[in-house]
Amino acid sequence: MGLFHQKPSSVIAIEPEHDIRYFAYARHALSEALRLCDCGPGDVVLLPELICRDVLSSIHSVGATSRFYPVDGTLSAQNLESNPPAKVVIAVNYFGFPQDLEPFNEYCSKTGAILIEDNAHGFLSKSPDGKFLGSRAPLGITSIRKTFRLMNGAALHISDSKYVSNLHSQLAYTNERPPLGMRSRITASRIQRSTRIPLLSLLQVSTRIIRKLTTGSWLPVSSVESETSLPMPINPHQSLRNCVQQLRAEKEVLRRRNLYIATDRKLESIGIDGIFTELTPGVSPYGYAFIANSQQLRSAKRRLRGLSVEVISWPDLPQAIRVDENHFYRNLRVVNFL
Ligand SMILES: Cc1ncc(COP(=O)(O)O)c(C=O)c1O
Repeated sequence: MGLFHQKPSSVIAIEPEHDIRYFAYARHALSEALRLCDCGPGDVVLLPELICRDVLSSIHSVGATSRFYPVDGTLSAQNLESNPPAKVVIAVNYFGFPQDLEPFNEYCSKTGAILIEDNAHGFLSKSPDGKFLGSRAPLGITSIRKTFRLMNGAALHISDSKYVSNLHSQLAYTNERPPLGMRSRITASRIQRSTRIPLLSLLQVSTRIIRKLTTGSWLPVSSVESETSLPMPINPHQSLRNCVQQLRAEKEVLRRRNLYIATDRKLESIGIDGIFTELTPGVSPYGYAFIANSQQLRSAKRRLRGLSVEVISWPDLPQAIRVDENHFYRNLRVVNFL
């Protein structure tokens, strides 16, 4: 059986034994995962401090409470065992690299918590023992739109059959025409990749200038509301289905791994190291993560010119996470391979 398997119901699955449901955003998949765990008001969901604030909206959607554990400089969970029992614990595979699930499994066996593997960044990525990330826990989520330029697209993987009977059927796919901005980015990205003419980069710079003139900020500003309201729509777009059906997974993984090696060489030459020092077999990197202050960030951007990649900063943390400006959470940068 190949990497993807088409079920008669036209639901596309990664490996036949894993049930799967598609959504527009990983936040919807997470919300559905929490519902399957029967997580609701009065329950606690344990998740890392290093998380985009909008992920909290999934927890809010079921009425549960978020509690946070820290991660260290290798983005591994710290002091999990010191947390009181939670209903659910979330492990994040940052940037497509497998999180060590052993401490999570230990925490779950001691407390009865259910593990959800947040693999938003790691579509197509595998652990060293060849398992798809997102399928190593009873429930897993993946944001496919972060790996391929799509209107939207995310998945919920159900690896423990006890959750299947409670699962909703696959939502219908929408097929509206993507907005002009999205279409332009897709076309510009294709041209940039095949010809190296920096059309997408020009588009990104002009978008930033327009944003600065209209909102006063170069980057999109996130609001407190993003912690409580899920994005719309919920139904996945037809382009997700086309993408998964036409996928050339090996080619995409190879492209990402080659970019990782090229980025590593360039950044190493200016004294910047990546967070993940080893590109283990099977890993499909979302990007190249590193810590840099604003001056180092400028040098990194200059050094990477010619690779046709964008360097982005980690989005806003939840309001509840109060760390100072020098904390590494606030200086985490990613060379995005999208
Ligand atoms: C670790 C992590 N999980 C989940 C999400 C949510 O993904 P989506 O934007 O598809 O809802 C994000 C978004 O950036 C993320 O970084």
